[in-house]
Amino acid sequence: MSHYFSLGQIPRKRHVVFRKPDGGLYAEQLVSTEGFSDAYSLVYHCHPPTMVTKIEEAYSVAPKIADPMNMQHRLFRGFDVAPADDYLESRVPVLVNNDCQISLAAPCKSMKDYYFKNSGADELIFVHRGDGILKTMYGNIPFSYGDHLIVPRGVVYQMEFTTTDNRLFIVESFAPLRFPKRYVNKYGQLLEHAPFCERDIRKPGVLETHDETGDFLVKIKREDMIWPYHYASHPFDLIGWDGFHYPYALSIHDFEPITGRLHQPPPVHQTFETPAFVVCAFVPRLYDYHPDSIPTPYNHSNVDSDEVLYYVDGDFMSRNNIKPGNITLHPTGIVHGPHPGAVERSIGAKETKELALMVDTFRPLKITEQAFAIEEPEYYRSWL
Ligand SMILES: [Fe+2]
Repeated sequence: MSHYFSLGQIPRKRHVVFRKPDGGLYAEQLVSTEGFSDAYSLVYHCHPPTMVTKIEEAYSVAPKIADPMNMQHRLFRGFDVAPADDYLESRVPVLVNNDCQISLAAPCKSMKDYYFKNSGADELIFVHRGDGILKTMYGNIPFSYGDHLIVPRGVVYQMEFTTTDNRLFIVESFAPLRFPKRYVNKYGQLLEHAPFCERDIRKPGVLETHDETGDFLVKIKREDMIWPYHYASHPFDLIGWDGFHYPYALSIHDFEPITGRLHQPPPVHQTFETPAFVVCAFVPRLYDYHPDSIPTPYNHSNVDSDEVLYYVDGDFMSRNNIKPGNITLHPTGIVHGPHPGAVERSIGAKETKELALMVDTFRPLKITEQAFAIEEPEYYRSWL
């Protein structure tokens, strides 16, 4: 994230005396990335954010890998993942490697008893179903169907749902999640050719300052372990902050598609990038308008990435028998393409209503036990 933002009260200068109405000092914290060399924010707490009272025993949430060397097209029925009341327990890792973890989650209840901080990964939480508020130390962001919630590592948050039927597609990235370099100018401003702009980036709105002390449980994730930390002050006790490092939302419905006379390649659909994978959004759009165009994609093989598609809603032009919540995995080097009949079906069509996310990873993805439990095993033969 590279847009300056400020919320609440901050002192006129950084690193100076900043007093509360009662004469005490607010506690300044620098939240910095890449050491002290990249985006950062300065945040001001009512209480020192360092008051740890107890650390409970850490426990593992490591994905159980069933196939570390996949070389087969796969389809997983994502909506078959069972709902669970608790947010963290609901997160089911399905595809993982050393750069990212892709999980599905169907949490039924809001987080009430604890807060969560991912110290090892930036999180992209795509809201397929459900409404609510992403509550964070930086302020609140209301969310609904179609939002990508971007939570940089280190941000303490809670998911508050107003619904019980919630479906999330979550990507944890061990490198920072950023907008594609070609979308931004040297000042970080989104350029005219980008499919979204600053007006589409929803920053934290309401800053709730909880000037409270007591016992506050923050579950902290790093390296596949959860560390239950107890703090003596409320994690959302900021009186104000400013900087370039904070959570935000971008709706897939605000992504303006780029179309052409002939088929456009996947990079026109891109939303985010890291050094290890890219994320794309396929949204409703007019089809290619050359009189002889074939709108459905050609057969293709990415010779250096695994391709994950998460199907959200609408018609999936190149696929037969795909349902919302499905995930397909097309591994490096194995050609895939339109299903039988899809090419003919697309000729002359004027538009598509498809809504899907794509994650292309540059290193192979491993498949978890939980993913195999929801697999459609005959998918690799579905082009016959
Ligand atoms: Fe593909």
